Amino acid sequence: MKLEHTALIEEFSGVFKEGSEDVRVFFSPGRINLIGEHTDYNGGNVLPCAITIGTYGAARKRGDRMVRLYSKNFSDAGIIEFSLDELVFKKEHSWANYPKGMLHFLQNSGHLLSGMDLYISGNIPNGAGLSSSASLELLTGVIAEELFQLTIDRIDLVQLGKKTENEFIGVNCGIMDQFAIGMGKKDTAILLDCNTLAYEYAPIEMTGCQIVIMNTNKRRELAESKYNIRRNECETALTCLQKELSVQALGELTEEQFEEHRHLIPDETVYRRARHAVYENQRTIKAISSLRNGSIEEFGELMNQSHLSLRDDYEVTGLELDAIVEAAWQHPGTLGARMTGAGFGGCAIALVKKEHLDSFIEETGRKYREASGYEADFYMASTGDGTKEVTAAIC
Ligand code: GLA
Repeated sequence: MKLEHTALIEEFSGVFKEGSEDVRVFFSPGRINLIGEHTDYNGGNVLPCAITIGTYGAARKRGDRMVRLYSKNFSDAGIIEFSLDELVFKKEHSWANYPKGMLHFLQNSGHLLSGMDLYISGNIPNGAGLSSSASLELLTGVIAEELFQLTIDRIDLVQLGKKTENEFIGVNCGIMDQFAIGMGKKDTAILLDCNTLAYEYAPIEMTGCQIVIMNTNKRRELAESKYNIRRNECETALTCLQKELSVQALGELTEEQFEEHRHLIPDETVYRRARHAVYENQRTIKAISSLRNGSIEEFGELMNQSHLSLRDDYEVTGLELDAIVEAAWQHPGTLGARMTGAGFGGCAIALVKKEHLDSFIEETGRKYREASGYEADFYMASTGDGTKEVTAAIC
């Protein structure tokens, strides 16, 4: 990794045609969510982890108010430049709108910024649903915090990441991704109650098992519009239930309370969307106790139920995610498998007994190819820390 650190600084100098003194290197992870999908904006629980795949940034403060950004992943776009006095969304600035939005909200909340040059290089596959955008938001936030010596609470930075996504980019996401990326800790998952933001770290000891990330290589399509439709359907269900129940979010309901009041939701589709939100939240609570008790089989079974509910009630899986998860289910080494993230393409995860890993990858990959025509990629998930500066020694 020492090499990677040096390489990033050299690439910074090459792109910006400047020396490398005072350039600092940062890393921001991607995330997977173990269970608790589409529950964050319903005031429910989630159980994500930060992973060691993510986004690197090499940055240096400037003496003026110019920001120059370059991403190795979007090298065709070249260097994108703007002033801190003009932090407005511009379509032609494509990926750079994420760092720009973050700087905009930092400045708006009273933090004093100066210009910077920032070279970015990420290894999160594009469109894989592992949260490359939240990774970039938090990367920018932590770089600004460190370069300009800002005093900012990490959870406030997480909130600004969400605000960037909601108000600058226009995606109405919940808080899970930014929270997992900003607050992650190696070897743990975060149990987060998205209603109160109360959280705790849960060590993940999957003895004898490995979490495998399965990339369908089917890019998410129309994900943003479908995502917003699901949100609206959940809000409609909540409004119906509020006629008799004094609740602020679907995440406050047990399965029994929900079923007792199902007659309040006349629309069948809206009822199924809400049923997913309520049951998935309760599954997440059960999943954390099975992790704590070391009942890994039970945890795997809850993952399977989660996928079925996302497939049948929430309808966010699609042919490719279903094909890869169903292929994984057929393998004798699999304890559980489900889609992860927003859905509509992207990645799924599987909990696999270590001694079966090779044949798992071979057979799941083959069955998936036969069913979908796509070639899958498999990565061994390893959990890591949230966004931070990295030095040559620990990089
Ligand atoms: C996306 C959103 C998150 C969350 C998940 C679904 O990743 O950014 O806020 O809603 O989808 O669980």
